[in-house]
Amino acid sequence: MEYMEWSRQALVQLQEKEHIRILAIESSCDETAAAVVEDGRKILSNAVFTQIDLHALYGGVVPEIASRAHVEKVDRMVDEALREAGMALKDIDAIAVTYGPGLVGALLTGVSCAKALAYGAKKPLVPVNHIEGHICANFLTHPNLQPPFACLVVSGGHSHLFSVEDYGVYRIIGQTQDDAAGEAFDKAARVLNIPYPGGPLLDKLAEKGNPHALKLPRPKTEGRYDYSFSGLKTAFINAVHNARQKGEEWNDADLAASFRHAVVSFLVDKAMLAAEEMGLKKMALAGGVSANSLLRRDMEAACQKRGIELYMPKLSLCGDNAAMIASAGYYRLRRGEIADLTLNARPALRLK
Ligand code: KG4
Ligand code: ZN
Repeated sequence: MEYMEWSRQALVQLQEKEHIRILAIESSCDETAAAVVEDGRKILSNAVFTQIDLHALYGGVVPEIASRAHVEKVDRMVDEALREAGMALKDIDAIAVTYGPGLVGALLTGVSCAKALAYGAKKPLVPVNHIEGHICANFLTHPNLQPPFACLVVSGGHSHLFSVEDYGVYRIIGQTQDDAAGEAFDKAARVLNIPYPGGPLLDKLAEKGNPHALKLPRPKTEGRYDYSFSGLKTAFINAVHNARQKGEEWNDADLAASFRHAVVSFLVDKAMLAAEEMGLKKMALAGGVSANSLLRRDMEAACQKRGIELYMPKLSLCGDNAAMIASAGYYRLRRGEIADLTLNARPALRLK
């Protein structure tokens, strides 16, 4: 029997099953990860190998190094995820994998591994959008959360405000016109000599600084709920360089706090504008930047003030991981969205 024919039959049989266990693989950027999740909500294992040390020397992710490290680690992470979950491949119902967006060579490693596993073990293959995975990290943290809700996705590569209308059904409310929020944090951190990825350390440093020490512009955007971080980033970098040239003594913590405040207030204000004007009652955060301590605090306060329920992934699920991919894969599988073995990496995949 052909793989796809077999896979479709397996899909029908899964409808009768009480619990569905998905093994997922994530390799879109600089984390090699594998996880097993039950029914889209319960994490049975979540193995993550972060390549940060390999890239820190270069001040950012080097695609060639990332691909090679994924090749070296992906099998091990799959083994670890199965072992931690106390399972063998035969106990798994489907294989989910991130197929975009991300670095093409990095994505291809995970996609190839997932296809080989799916073919070898005769399991349905579920393609997952990385951004959707970030959103689904909220389902792993909040067992009762159900669509519809709005979700602000802020990561190293993306800044979007989505309306999550149903499982797997998204509408873009707003998005960045240029850089992503995480990218801006990383670039701002670099000028303060904070090693890559600078976001988390800049956040920590900012806790000790004065957020009003340096005044930064509020970027203008075309769309009412859109974002823009490029001008803010450049204004910050120029201000720091000018200050240094003039020999002015600036406190790095004040600079970090000022930049963080500018980014976070922009994110929160736009999300709240959309919430008020569109009557949104439930809001979620997702992506690496949703670990930002000021963003979490200010969102909490802003939502509380307006009677909006706020959902945030737990800190360990904000960054890239495969549990979130397994959760997204579960809802895609339930909609019958499986792939054949021609599945390819899609570096510029969009979520709509
Ligand atoms: O979601 P993620 O792990 O990878 C992408 O899909 O891009 O996000 C990584 C980004 C990096 O830019 C990193 O600096 C940023 O998230 N980040 C933070 C914090 N933690 C991670 N940015 C600001 N504050 C943080 N606490
Ligand atoms: Zn990510």
